[in-house]
This record gives sequence, C-alpha cells and structure tokens, in this order.
Amino acid sequence: MSIAEKFVAMEYGPAPEDPKEALSWLDRHDRKFGHFIGGVWQQPSEGTYFETSDPSNGERLAEVGQGSVADIDAAVHAAHTALSKWQAHTPHVRARYLYALARTIQKHSRRLAVLETIDNGKPIRESRDIDIPLVIRHFYHHAGWAQLLEQEFPGYAPCGVVGQIIPWNFPLLMLAWKIAPALATGNTVVLKPAEFTPLTALAFAEICQEVGLPPGVVNIVTGDGSTGESLVKHDGVAKIAFTGSTEVGRAIRRATASSHKRLSLELGGKSPFIIFEDADLDSAVEGLVDGIWFNQGQVCCAGSRLLMQESIAEPLIAKIRDRMSTLRAGAPLDKSVDIGAIVDRVQLDRIKRLVDQGVAEGATCWQPKIDLPSRGLYYPPTLLSNVHPTSMVAQQEIFGPVLATMTFRTPTEAVELANNTVYGLAGCVWSESLNVALHVASQIKAGVVWVNCTNLFDAACGFGGYRESGYGREGGREGLLEYLEPVWFKNAPALPTVERTPRQPLNHDSDPSLPAIDRTVKLYIGGKQARPDSGYSMEVRGTDGRFLGEAPLGNRKDIRNAVEAAHKASSWAKATAHTRAQVLYYIAENLSERSEEIARRLAAAVGETQAAAEVSLGIERIFSYAGWADKYDGAVHNPPFRNVALAMNEVIGTVGVICSNQAPLLGFLSLTMPLLAAGNTTVVVPSETYPLIAGDLYQIFDTSDLPGGAVNIVTGYTSQLLKVLAEHDDVDSIWCFADGESATAAKAYSVGNLKQVFTNEGRSIDWFDAKQSEGRWFLQHATQVKNIWVPYGE
Ligand code: NAI
Repeated sequence: MSIAEKFVAMEYGPAPEDPKEALSWLDRHDRKFGHFIGGVWQQPSEGTYFETSDPSNGERLAEVGQGSVADIDAAVHAAHTALSKWQAHTPHVRARYLYALARTIQKHSRRLAVLETIDNGKPIRESRDIDIPLVIRHFYHHAGWAQLLEQEFPGYAPCGVVGQIIPWNFPLLMLAWKIAPALATGNTVVLKPAEFTPLTALAFAEICQEVGLPPGVVNIVTGDGSTGESLVKHDGVAKIAFTGSTEVGRAIRRATASSHKRLSLELGGKSPFIIFEDADLDSAVEGLVDGIWFNQGQVCCAGSRLLMQESIAEPLIAKIRDRMSTLRAGAPLDKSVDIGAIVDRVQLDRIKRLVDQGVAEGATCWQPKIDLPSRGLYYPPTLLSNVHPTSMVAQQEIFGPVLATMTFRTPTEAVELANNTVYGLAGCVWSESLNVALHVASQIKAGVVWVNCTNLFDAACGFGGYRESGYGREGGREGLLEYLEPVWFKNAPALPTVERTPRQPLNHDSDPSLPAIDRTVKLYIGGKQARPDSGYSMEVRGTDGRFLGEAPLGNRKDIRNAVEAAHKASSWAKATAHTRAQVLYYIAENLSERSEEIARRLAAAVGETQAAAEVSLGIERIFSYAGWADKYDGAVHNPPFRNVALAMNEVIGTVGVICSNQAPLLGFLSLTMPLLAAGNTTVVVPSETYPLIAGDLYQIFDTSDLPGGAVNIVTGYTSQLLKVLAEHDDVDSIWCFADGESATAAKAYSVGNLKQVFTNEGRSIDWFDAKQSEGRWFLQHATQVKNIWVPYGE
C-alpha cells in the first residue's frame, strides 16, 4: 500500500479519556451531594434528592439535593451574613481570592473537563480545550478587575446578594461568567445550576472551600425550576442574573417587576451565519462546523440559520455535506469525537419533534450516513434546505445540531433576512471584503458579530443580546456594571407620595378677576403638531389651582402613530455623531433664546426660582449631551487570539420615555437628550402635572433641525400611556422616571418583546444635581454594546 493509499484508508482509533479521577471524586462524596451553604455541605431540608446521569450511556452518576424554599432562604441568609465582611475587604484581598480560584481551577482542570463531559455529554475535546480554559481565563481576568475596581468604577457600589440561575449547555463556564464578576465587584452569591448538569458547580463549591473563600460568599443550591423560582422571588436578593430559555426569562421579568431587583437575561437565539460569494468557502465551512455542530448545537449563539449568497449555494451545500459526512459522533470521552450526546431525553425529543415539524412544513432534511452509538442520546448533524424565512425552523430555536439554510442575492437582502427574527444574540459574516463584512456586521441586530470567525469568547469582551435574546452583558466593563449601582442611587430616598413640589406664589397675572390665558398645546408626532385621537383634553392647573391651559389627552392610537413616526425617523440614528451634536447645540441655542418666556410660563407650575433653574440647567444639560454625542465611544479589545473585538456603543432604537413630575422641563431634557445624543428616536410622555411644557419644546425642536419623528410628544395620563408604550412591540426600551407604581408597571408590561427597562425604582432623583441626573449612567442605558470580532493575520 502506498503512503497516499494508507493516508486515505486511515481510520481513527479509539482515544478514550480516562474518567477514573472524576469518578473517584464522585465516590469520595458517596455519589450524593447536599447544597453548599455558608461554606459547608448541608442536607436538603426536605430530604429530597434527584439523579444526574451520563447522557452518553444513561449511567447514574450521582444524586443531588432538590432545593426547597427553606434551602434557598438559608443560602440567601448565609450570603447576607457574609456580605458586609466581603465588602469590607480591600479590592486587593478580593483579587487574591479570585486569583486563587483561577489557580485552583487550573490545577483541577482535567478532572473538571471530564466531569463536565460525563454530566453533559459534550466531547472532551470541547470541555478540555474550550470550556475549562475559558473558565480559568474568566477568573484571572476578573481577579484583575477586583484589584482595579475602585480606580475604574469610583462612585459605584455592589448590588448585594445576587441570585444566579444557569443552564446546562456550558455548566461551569456559565457559572464562571456569573460568579467571577459578582465577586470581583463585592457581591455575594447564591447560584442554582441546571438540574441536568449540577456536578461541576458542586466541584467548584469544593474549590471555594479549598481556597478558603469566606463562608457564605458563594452558595450553591441544586434543584429544578421551582428552586430557581424561589431564588427569583426571595426578598433578600438584590439582583437576578439568568441564562436560559426566553420563556423562563419572561417569567422572571414578570416575577421581579414589583421588586427593585436588578435583572440581566441571556436568552435564546437564532443566529444568522452569512456567507458571501467572495468568502473563503473552505474556511467558512470549518467555521460553520463550529457554528452549529459545536456542543451538538446546544449553544445559545449557534449559527443555526445559514444565509448563502445565491451564486454559491450549490457548491457550498456540496462542501457542507462532504464535511458533515466526516464528522464523528460517539462517546464524548473519546478525544477524536466531534459530536457527543444530547444532554437529556427531553431535549432529544424536542429536537426530533421540531425537525419533523420543519419537514412537515416543507423543508428538505439531509443527514450524513455516519455511525451513531446504539446506546445513549444522540442526534445526527442535520441540514434543512428549502426553508422558508417565516417557517418554524427558521424562526424557533431548535437547540440541537440542526442547520436551516436560505439564500439571498444582495447584502441588503442578507441583512433583512438576518434581522428577520425576534432574537438578536449573535451573527457571523464571511466575506473576503472587509468593507462588505463590516458594513453588514454593523447592521445586524445582535450583541456579537463574528467576521470570518465564529464562537469566539473572551472575558474582556461583553457577550449578550439584543431584543428577545435578553439584556445585560457578561464580560468586559459592561459586564461588571451589571453588578454595580451608583452609590447615590442605591441610597436615594423614595419619592414622597405627593410628588408636587411646593410652589411659590405667582407675582404676575395673579389678579383673579382677569381671565386666564388660554393655552392649548397639541401632540407632537412626526415633526408635526397633531390633535389627539380622543378629542379630549386635560386641564392643567398651577400650584394655586389656577387654570393654566389644556393639554391633549393622548390615547393608544396616538402612541401607535408616535411609535410609527419614531421608526420612520431612523435617519437620526444614521446621522453622524457630529451632526447629532450640532442639532443638540442648536436646541440649546433656541431654548436660550426663549428662556425668559418659557421660565415665566413654567413658573406658574413650579414657582419662579425652580423655573429659572430648570431653564438654565436645561440649557447646560443639552450642552452636556451635545458634548457627549461624539465622545461616548466604544473600545477595542485585544482578546488572547489574533483578533480585535470592536466594542461599539450602538443605538437601542425607539425608546418610550415617561417623565418625572418633579422637574417638568429639566426632567424631560435629562431623559430625552442622552437618548438623542446616542441616536435613539423617542416617544415622550411629559410630566403629567405640567404637560404644557410640550408646547414650548416642540416649537424649539421645530426650529432646531431635529428631524421630524426623532422626538414625539404625547401628553396625557401617565399610567394609561405607559401601558401602551411598554406593551408596544416596536418600542425597544422604556425609560420610566415617575413613581414606584409606574416603575413596576413598566417592568411588568414590558415582558412581551422583553424590552429593556430603565427606571428610578420610585426613588427621588435630584434633577438639579448633574452628578445624579447626567452623564455615563444615562448614556449606558441609551446604548447597547455590540462586539464585532475581526481576525487578522494570514
Ligand atoms: P430553562 O430556561 O428552563 O432552564 C434554564 C435554568 O432555569 C435551569 O437552571 C432551570 O432549572 C431554571 N428555571 C426553570 N424554570 C425556572 C423558573 N420559573 N424560575 C427560575 N428558574 C427557572 O431551559 P431548559 O428547559 O433547560 O431548555 C429549554 C430550551 O431553552 C432549550 O431547548 C433552549 O431552546 C433554551 N435554552 C437556552 C439556553 C441559552 O443558553 N440561552 C440554555 C438552556 C436552554
């Protein structure tokens, strides 16, 4: 046999990883685990356990405790007890603990990789070379942040006790993404691992003991969804961080609406994998293998929708099929296996059901003839073609090794198809033309876009979604901010129940015998004054009860029109930051021009002193955001690969704004200007007590070159308009700065499209103090970070 013949005929021999160490670790624990609470192992309070098994062969691995309400309560209590001491440590001490965790995980890395593989079914090649190294990197990186915290985040404080709920697809990695930033920022943690894969979290608990982490700083309670629910609902928890299904994400949003709990959600995805005709097709196919068949496709950012330029569809599909035929499925502990087991029977059945449904809807299903083990939970790599963009398999997350393919002709069409989803977690673009690739990347609505690469992650680069893929980021500076709050805000008092500020007596027009000046403002929609659909108005009275004028009573239809107008004004987002700054300066100039008359009118509602202050600080505030417009830049990260990751602060879209009653003009400007500076379009409900400010403002906007639709103003009853805005699927975010009840309503009504919500939590904000009411905190909420990864080198 010639060497060439031998090469072709060569077979992979078995290369099994020895699980002895991991199994003897399980044996040392008698294959039975309680919860890790207050630094010690505790029996589940109800004495109930459930099994976790190896999905590649069905063998039982261990029993773990089913966490009850009482167990969660004990864990939260332990975390509270540990909190003040943990926060009292210097950043350096916390950095030392995080560093020790990284080192110790590194020492046990192989055991952890094997444990992950037998509990989850993922190939050892992946757990050994991807999951665990990334876990270690995450702890090292955050040891650095712990050390630098006070220098880099002055004025911020930790949230407190944090509840974290993680899924089963990257068990230890998701733990690291949650625990490392929480500890680095001075929080303590109660974490609930997924019921299918609790083992590496329990091994991590032991590592916490090994490094001498103070008891209660990390608590691990195992259990199912009900355990997670108890954690979400616990009053002692200040923040919930969740990764999992969009459905549960919604339930958590609903369950936390009436509390002040911070929330970050990393949910599902249906990410586009776009290949242009000029791409290096062989590389793209290798990328695709990683994009959809990595971890059996059980990846939230899996490139599960292949979008191919029509001209290359045929040869590309041929290449993909060839490559699929060489994928090796088998025992996950075999080092030369590409495709391991599906985590659980429930998930396997779900994949089968969805593929069958796709075929019934007209998709063509192709699977390579590769051997699958006779035992265990396996599903072959699968290609679905003839997929209609609106069909179920193109829209719904399958969470399995299933690729749906579609074609496009032009870059514009590619972007349209890519964004034709409710999700927005990730995307891939393959093209040798960097211009085209970056142009497309910038238009994909997703938190991460990989150009000519795929599935790259790093602790320094934020990861998280747009739209129904959730909000908040993990990794990077933005990830740390999820666990921090401005100190002043944490300590801000609740708004007084009667919100109207004491008004000063008027010293003009105060003769009661004179008729009041009839001042009727209109709505402002798409750059035009509009009468309300309802045909009704609301009376506006001054502090002394005197009639000041009438404001339209906006309704559902007016909000809908305003949202439509805001959507049409997307030219504002596309304008350069310099242009936006110029328009904002112009608004300030026009406000300054008319300051006296506006202050005079406003005085009837808030008194002369406040009115004068609102106008002069208002001008200053607009100047501030005109200054910020071209300075709130992103960052360029240098992850430890030959890549740059461009972290862009992108616009959120259309934002609904509910203004405060405390400062009708200054509050309006403090909320609207950062949104405009970042390129958002807005639908603003002005202060209910003095909506007449709308009339002054739209006259200023009209004369300041602000494109029609960038700001729309709908006056009326806050509670009614808030509901319509928060439930509207084309509104991308809600800023609600009225009372506590409105904050709860904003969160509860926003579950539909999982829009981002930014509120004052019913607390009082001093709009006259720029330290509270201006700057980065607002800009952060006016933008979302997208990381675009670009490789370099040959
Ligand atoms: P899931 O969302 O139910 O589970 C994730 C975690 O949430 C688990 O720890 C679970 O115990 C917990 N949980 C469940 N119900 C809860 C509740 N009401 N309150 C608090 N915590 C709760 O996901 P599941 O059922 O394991 O998988 C179903 C589908 O979800 C998958 O097929 C996939 O489409 C998606 N998924 C997405 C993930 C992602 O990384 N984005 C990860 C896991 C699943």
